[in-house]
Amino acid sequence: MTTPTPWWRDAVVYEVYPRSFSDASGDGEGDLEGLRHRLPYLSELGVDALWLTPFYTSPLADGGYDVADYRDVDPRFGTLADFDDLVADAHRLGLRIIIDIVPNHTSSAHPWFSEAVRTGRGRGRYHFRDCADVPNDWQSNFGGPAWSRTPDGSWYLHLYTPEQPDLNWHDPEVRAEFEDVLRFWLDRGVDGFRIDVAAGLFKHPDLPDLGALGTHAPGSPMYGRPEVHEIYRQWRSILDSYPGEHMAVGEVWTESPEALALYVRPDELHQAFQFHLLLAPWSARAFREIIGTCLDSPNGQAPTWVLSNHDVIRHRSRYGTEERSRAALMLILALPGSAYLYQGEELGLPEVFDLPDEARQDPIFFQGKGMGRDGCRVPLPWSGTQAPYGFTSGKPWLPQPADWGPLTVEAQEGDPASMLSFYRRALALRRTLRAALPPTLEWQEWPDPGVLAFRRGDLVCAVNFGDEPVEFQGDVLLASGPSAEGRIAGGGAVWLRT
Ligand code: GLC
Repeated sequence: MTTPTPWWRDAVVYEVYPRSFSDASGDGEGDLEGLRHRLPYLSELGVDALWLTPFYTSPLADGGYDVADYRDVDPRFGTLADFDDLVADAHRLGLRIIIDIVPNHTSSAHPWFSEAVRTGRGRGRYHFRDCADVPNDWQSNFGGPAWSRTPDGSWYLHLYTPEQPDLNWHDPEVRAEFEDVLRFWLDRGVDGFRIDVAAGLFKHPDLPDLGALGTHAPGSPMYGRPEVHEIYRQWRSILDSYPGEHMAVGEVWTESPEALALYVRPDELHQAFQFHLLLAPWSARAFREIIGTCLDSPNGQAPTWVLSNHDVIRHRSRYGTEERSRAALMLILALPGSAYLYQGEELGLPEVFDLPDEARQDPIFFQGKGMGRDGCRVPLPWSGTQAPYGFTSGKPWLPQPADWGPLTVEAQEGDPASMLSFYRRALALRRTLRAALPPTLEWQEWPDPGVLAFRRGDLVCAVNFGDEPVEFQGDVLLASGPSAEGRIAGGGAVWLRT
């Protein structure tokens, strides 16, 4: 008897950034009720699971990745009862729910941190140092030193904003707390967790200078410390103790495939994101190299493909054309493994580059480390011809472009040539094909070096990275655009049955 494939191994997971998805309350920020009303849309889109970025109580100094209460919903996103309703409705529609867990740091508004600063109690849960000079040379990921001072002059460590003090995972209370938090949400019915900054958690106990070492390089005192694996083994045993198939996917930035593989050993996390495509240029050679490396790596058992998320420039803008965005989707959906989509990519939303400075909210912008990530977080357009495009009855928390009328769900729904209709077709087809697809691929040599092609069973996926059309033979199952006369358009792709 063969063991059935666990659901997450080849799932299509849709990332929801709740603040920008859909607003039911009318305050201009999306919420859980807004999301719940739109679940039929997501089920019809054809995804298997939703990953919700943080909706917990938070001052939103970093869009919710600064958690003040890990066991509650921020009032602007709703209530725990809303969350329960959301999970129940999602499950009824066959959608699994993955939630974000943020263990590397809390918010500075978390009671633990406030207490430590106010009374000195529980300081061991964070990294405080009492010294005249900044304790080491570490820099925050968002710019500036990774150390700030409390009003009484103590230094504390924060790898992100000063409002996100890093926890000290050598403290057993921290460990116990997160085990309990996992159980809290598992008891409420979630199917999995996305673990934020999964390689962070432990720091070298001496907090030595980083010197010339890369932040994520092997031997870094900030990321990838070996102690973290024991935590994930423990978390895995908690997940496995619940009936059903629960999973965890780690956000692990590392320079080495071998280091990444450590996180997905059989008794640790189920998946770790492979972010390589986010950084790849539009080139057959670059994509082939990345796909090969990912599949051949010890992590290749559970690949995860990502083109966009809430931290990077939308791939519609990175690749420059809609045709290429469609082709990239066809590529990742045809590869072995699971695909993580980001809300709005199914509408072909571009990055919004020209947000006015006064509208921007991302701490990266305020720390002076670039324009930040607000441009991929602009609220979704649902209907109508002008802002707020059915997103809210109030004023959207980030302004939406005036020319998004043709990109709304309403405008695209009835149009078979739209991006949305294309996503629906591609996802539906993948569902029907997936049981028959072998877990590996065979590269197909193509006369034109600009074409990347591979076969899985009867399916051949061919992507034309060049600008000129190329010819093909075979029965077309899906094409990124008009593939008339047996030609794949420049920047296009086809799925063929041969
Ligand atoms: C992760 C999140 C990002 C957040 C950071 C700090 O990289 O994806 O949005 O700012 O962690 O929590």
